[in-house]
Amino acid sequence: MSVLEVKVWRGGADGGYRAYTVPREDAQTVLDVVTHIQRYLDPTLAYRFACRVGMCGSCAMTVNGKARWTCRTHVAAVAGNDRLEIGPLANLPIVRDLVTDMREFFDKWARARGQFQPTATRRDEFARVEPASSTRRAVDAAIECIGCGVCYAACDVVAWNPSYLGPAALNRAWTLVNDARDGARAERLAAVAGDAGCHACHTHESCTERCPKHLSPTASIAGLKRASVLAALRGEL
Ligand code: SF4
Ligand code: SF4
Ligand code: FES
Repeated sequence: MSVLEVKVWRGGADGGYRAYTVPREDAQTVLDVVTHIQRYLDPTLAYRFACRVGMCGSCAMTVNGKARWTCRTHVAAVAGNDRLEIGPLANLPIVRDLVTDMREFFDKWARARGQFQPTATRRDEFARVEPASSTRRAVDAAIECIGCGVCYAACDVVAWNPSYLGPAALNRAWTLVNDARDGARAERLAAVAGDAGCHACHTHESCTERCPKHLSPTASIAGLKRASVLAALRGEL
């Protein structure tokens, strides 16, 4: 029987890697490996998942040094020499083992004004947004974010400056800046234009390279930079 040698992070920030041997299976994902360890080798292992099909964004971990969604990452694609090292996401506090505390990540979505601000009531007609308009296309290109935190864990600027809003919150802000139905454009641009906002991005593109949904937070952030500078020049901020 073919096996994988797997090292898994155990404990909190001062923890360390523990070794396990896991049977190799056809079409096995990294999440399958973690589940095998928890079910058959060590029931105290803490990890997080929900959908197993790339929808919920809860299963992201660091796999052989890179942030990935583990339910859609096949072992065959990442386990060179039948070895895996699985740890919690970087740039976030560790709760225990493979579970990180996502509060800061989502608090930053709120700081970037990531909430839709309606301008109509339920008694109004449905808004009609032209699918071919440039703003609608900008929204469509960025809207499929599942909040997995992979981009945030991959971003060097977050590591250097923990108050930086980060790629996911800024990507969300960009979808709302382009939403014709939203009424908080100026407040949102002001919220993302500060020192820890879009202008802190160094355009490294690690977020875009790693995003499992093939989104481009880098492009969204570039759009925010342009829009916030224009709004400032027009005296709107
Ligand atoms: S492009 Fe900007 S947000 Fe994305 S990883 Fe680089 S510095 Fe971070
Ligand atoms: S932008 Fe991509 S990597 Fe970042 S949270 Fe959304 S889906 Fe995950
Ligand atoms: S378990 Fe939902 S995205 Fe992986």
